Parts: sequence; structure tokens; C-alpha cells
Amino acid sequence: MEDRLLDPQLSEDERDLDVTLRPRRLDEFIGQDRLREHFRIFIEAARERGECLDHVLLSGPPGLGKTTLAGIIANEMEVGLKQTSGPALERAGDLAAILTNLTEGDVLFIDEIHRLNRTVEEVLYPAMEDRKLDIIIGKGPAARSIRLDLPPFTLVGATTRSGLLTGPLRDRFGVHSRLDYYGEEEMVRIIERSARILGVSIDSEGAMEIARRSRGTPRIANRLLRRVRDFAQVRAQGAIDREVAQEALELFEVDHRGLDKVDMMILRTIHLKFGGGPVGINTLAVAVGEEMDTIEEVYEPYLLQIGFLQRTPRGRVITENARRHLGLEVEDGGGRTLF
Ligand SMILES: Nc1ncnc2c1ncn2[C@@H]1O[C@H](COP(=O)(O)OP(=O)(O)OP(=O)(O)O)[C@@H](O)[C@H]1O
Ligand SMILES: [Mg+2]
Repeated sequence: MEDRLLDPQLSEDERDLDVTLRPRRLDEFIGQDRLREHFRIFIEAARERGECLDHVLLSGPPGLGKTTLAGIIANEMEVGLKQTSGPALERAGDLAAILTNLTEGDVLFIDEIHRLNRTVEEVLYPAMEDRKLDIIIGKGPAARSIRLDLPPFTLVGATTRSGLLTGPLRDRFGVHSRLDYYGEEEMVRIIERSARILGVSIDSEGAMEIARRSRGTPRIANRLLRRVRDFAQVRAQGAIDREVAQEALELFEVDHRGLDKVDMMILRTIHLKFGGGPVGINTLAVAVGEEMDTIEEVYEPYLLQIGFLQRTPRGRVITENARRHLGLEVEDGGGRTLF
């Protein structure tokens, strides 16, 4: 269990709670102030004109609120929400079926949109641009193509890797929004909100302790909160303060910066095997025994954010802060300490 306490991805059994804790309105959505302000304006303007919101591309690391925002957009626009994901749309026909089922104004949410395959993606172009669906009927010489009109709709695409989107697809989104890791103060507010919904008693120092270890990621904060709640219930009459949070998180082996075993391994490997770097991502992935994609999408962004890792043209380098955090010897003028 401890192993995935800090995994920003959602596990199966968490889905229900995730839904309970998910903000439904823009007012309940904490942090990302600028982005929230932008959406407030876009939504109000579109509503006043009686139009759909422009297509929206949301990018950012897992667990920061992309799915949540898609739902909020639909709620604020008072329209329906239809959800699917890149990998679920295997054939062009899968997407065509969804598009022809849209009701006027609907938000169509496509998660992991960078994983759409090319033929499916090509169906999306005219749909996004002209609200047209080209369907080919029949095969061989008798085949002909017909064009169907689609109702106005808003496509909300979410991706953890906006760099993998093709140019033509990216260009068809009118709004590009990037979610960033939340600051500590925002994380405290998110934890206090979740605690209220779950009926957990927590003081501000307790919330702060959990916030610090949540990697700036609301999903992780919610998960840690629930684990600390269990601990508090069994060992501390249910109330969470700093001491209870600290004890619980130490017991669950959550590092005070929110690093987990894989983070540690990445940093240690760069230090020990590659002299601190630079090391290419491919080589690093093999040495750590993780998928390259997972390192790039899940681990690296946070390590970059807290300044433990740097990206250089020649590869990844660990910083002095990281060495200090790990208790590794920091290089001084006298040369390098070997382990
Ligand atoms: N701004 C926020 N305020 C309060 N809670 C939030 C906020 N953003 C996210 N959350 C909480 O974090 C959980 C995860 O958010 P969400 O599922 O939207 O992330 P995501 O970006 O879609 O992640 P993934 O890339 O894994 O799909 C939500 O259930 C919600 O409870
Ligand atoms: Mg999501």
C-alpha cells in the first residue's frame, strides 16, 4: 500500500471517493487562480452569446484537476458531459458513434488525447473545425463519402503530455490551459475542504503537514488525508494535528518533501552511477528499471519543480539540494566522495 501512496495516478478503489471530493463549480475549485479567472471570463462570455465554449486543451501532470475542470466547464455551461479517452477510441467508427450521439451544447471530454491514433484523429479535425463528420459508406469502387452535420459542442481534451500532440490537433483548440503543481497554501485549503466533506477533524498545522508531503498534487493530498484519518481514528481519537499527521506519515514512509522510493532511486542512481549526470533519459530509465514515459510524466516534473533535478541538452543532472536532501555527500573543491 505504501508504495502507491504517492502515485499521482488514480487507483480503481479510489474512484468513488474521488468523485465525492471533486469540486463541481468554479467557486469550489481551489488554486490555479489565473486559469480559473480565464475560464470564468470565457464561460460568461460564451453564455451571454448563447454559444458553446471554444474547444479546450488541458495539460499538466496527473492528479492536478483536468478531469475535474472538464466537469466544471459542463456544469457552469449547464450542458451535458460525455466522456471517453484516447486509448478507448480504437477505430474511427468509435469516435463517429460518440459524435453522432452528442446533444447540442454538450461537452465531449477526451482524456489522454495524445494517445488517439492517427485515423481517429483525422475524424476529429472536421468535427472540431466545421462540425462535420465524414463517413465512408461501402467498400472499393462503390464506396462513397457522406458528410453529416454535428450539433455545436465543446471538445475538452486532457493530456499529461501536450508535447506529443500533433500540430494540426493542437491548433484546433481555441483555449490551451496548463495546470501547474499547487502551492502549499492552496494545498492546505484543498485538504481542509476535503476534510470537511469527509467529516474529519483537522487543525491547520495538521493540514500543513499533509500539504507539504503531497507533491503539490490534490489527488495525493486526498489520499494521504484518508490514510492519516485511519491512523488518527485508531491511535488519536480521530483528530488530526501536526503530531498525528507527522507520526502517521512517517509510519507510512512518506518523506517530508513527498518523495517516494522511485524518486529516491532516480536521484540516487544519477548520483551513484552517473556521477550526478548528465545522463540521457533512456539510459536512466533502464538503470532505474522504470518505463521512460513514467519517469517523464510522473516523476520528473515534480523533481524539476522542487529543484532537485535539472534538464540539460545532454541529459538530466541532480542538484546540490537533492544531494543534501538524500544525505549524499555534496561535492566540494576537494573532489568527489565515492560510495
Ligand atoms: N483545484 C482543486 N480543488 C480541490 N480539489 C481538487 C482540485 N483539483 C483536483 N482536486 C481533487 O483531486 C482529485 C484529482 O483530480 P482530477 O481527477 O481532476 O485530476 P486529473 O488532472 O484529471 O488527473 P489524471 O491526469 O490522472 O486524469 C479530484 O478528485 C479532486 O478531488
Ligand atoms: Mg483525469
